[in-house]
Amino acid sequence: MSKDWWRESAKGLPELITETPGPKSKVMHVNTARYMKGLSGQVKLFPVCFEEGSGIMLKDVDGNRYLDFSSGIYVTSLGHCHPKVSEAVSYWANKLMNAHDFTTPVKEKLMEKMAGILPGNLNAIQLYSDGTAAVEAAIRAARAITNKHEFISAYRDFHGKTLGAVSCAQMYRGETYSYGPTRAAGFYMVPRPDPYRPLWTKTNGTIDTDAYINFYETFIKEGTVGNVAAFVLEPAQGWAGSIFPPEDFFPKLKQLCDKYKILLYDDEVLAGMGRTGEWLTLNHWGVIPDIVTFGKSFGNGFPVTALVVKEEYGEALEKISASSSYGGNPMACAAALASIEVIEEEDILENVRTVGDFFMKRLNKMKEEHPIIGDVKGKGFLLGIELVKDKITKEPFEQAGTLVYQKAFRKGLAWIPAGHILRMSPPLIMDEYYANKGMDIIEEAITEVEKEFGY
Ligand SMILES: Cc1ncc(COP(=O)(O)O)c(C=O)c1O
Repeated sequence: MSKDWWRESAKGLPELITETPGPKSKVMHVNTARYMKGLSGQVKLFPVCFEEGSGIMLKDVDGNRYLDFSSGIYVTSLGHCHPKVSEAVSYWANKLMNAHDFTTPVKEKLMEKMAGILPGNLNAIQLYSDGTAAVEAAIRAARAITNKHEFISAYRDFHGKTLGAVSCAQMYRGETYSYGPTRAAGFYMVPRPDPYRPLWTKTNGTIDTDAYINFYETFIKEGTVGNVAAFVLEPAQGWAGSIFPPEDFFPKLKQLCDKYKILLYDDEVLAGMGRTGEWLTLNHWGVIPDIVTFGKSFGNGFPVTALVVKEEYGEALEKISASSSYGGNPMACAAALASIEVIEEEDILENVRTVGDFFMKRLNKMKEEHPIIGDVKGKGFLLGIELVKDKITKEPFEQAGTLVYQKAFRKGLAWIPAGHILRMSPPLIMDEYYANKGMDIIEEAITEVEKEFGY
């Protein structure tokens, strides 16, 4: 199959034939929201109703065609309805949908494929059907491996919303997410380095990674009962706004973990499987974690996720059991296997690196030219623009974030808001031409907002 399969449906993007959201979208959204509660801010701010997707194109019920800068929500990374993935799912949907956790031919192939692409001896695997379930399994696995029960995570990390996962995740204040006192006992959080907003800096003003690591060491000694099973971290903070740590952070953290016999659990549900130009984001920094989880892009839209630990910890996975109703069903294995094969066959990692560099050049130029862009960040196709009221004070500009999101969407860019940090996660098949088009729309929206606020 040609790797240009998506170009036909991308022609002329974006193409708007009504105001957006259009009249049919509005009615369908109202009908749905009458019953469906707790919709995300993304939907509430732009209540469009989609009915079709192909490659980098999303079509709404009014016939408007959007350029996709969201991949669903970091999910359809190879483009909507990649023919190879859809065909693989449909084959098994017609042959065998579920066989509990028995071996199937497609599961056998997927296991071999995963063990082949992952670094080091990361090859003891379990399959689940959402990211949160894989995170929960990772927490159980860390306990089973170490016989310890404490966990350290970081402010503004996100790992899911069930009790174990949310205990490692940022707690939300205010009316949006008032879960009550949900952090389970033994789960702690520490600050992690954000190069734009460093808590500790060296005398030359750059971020001081060692100060963070030293604080963690003190915390392990003073703030825990000495039973820390794992550090639980996203390799780069996705939900928080594509925040990447300094280059030396993970290598130094791994050394600290090894010193205290603490596992490094790398939650790659959002960033893994190619989004940053590597199978594993930690590959960028030469670090092999002890535990990894994959989700989102893993099945390109089909719900399939994975927990992977180092071979020597495989025995512990026996203790937590691999069985779940849907985990590793034949359709799920087919989607994951086909997605990995597509990444290899279409040279997706190389595209992500090349077009990712182009994105960063364009973003850096925008930062120089716009008074409300405080920082731009990213690697590969995991990108962010941080809006501030003032470049010196760095005061977050939430209102501008909301307006830019809505304006760009209205102009035909389907994407993801996150308060004052605009997040971008285009499908990994995108070329420079469409990358540039999307950035033009965003820049236009930012310029309009700047004018409205008198900059
Ligand atoms: C890093 C990370 N871990 C876990 C999850 C939870 O995944 P899911 O929504 O599939 O349950 C997410 C979801 O956004 C995530 O970003």
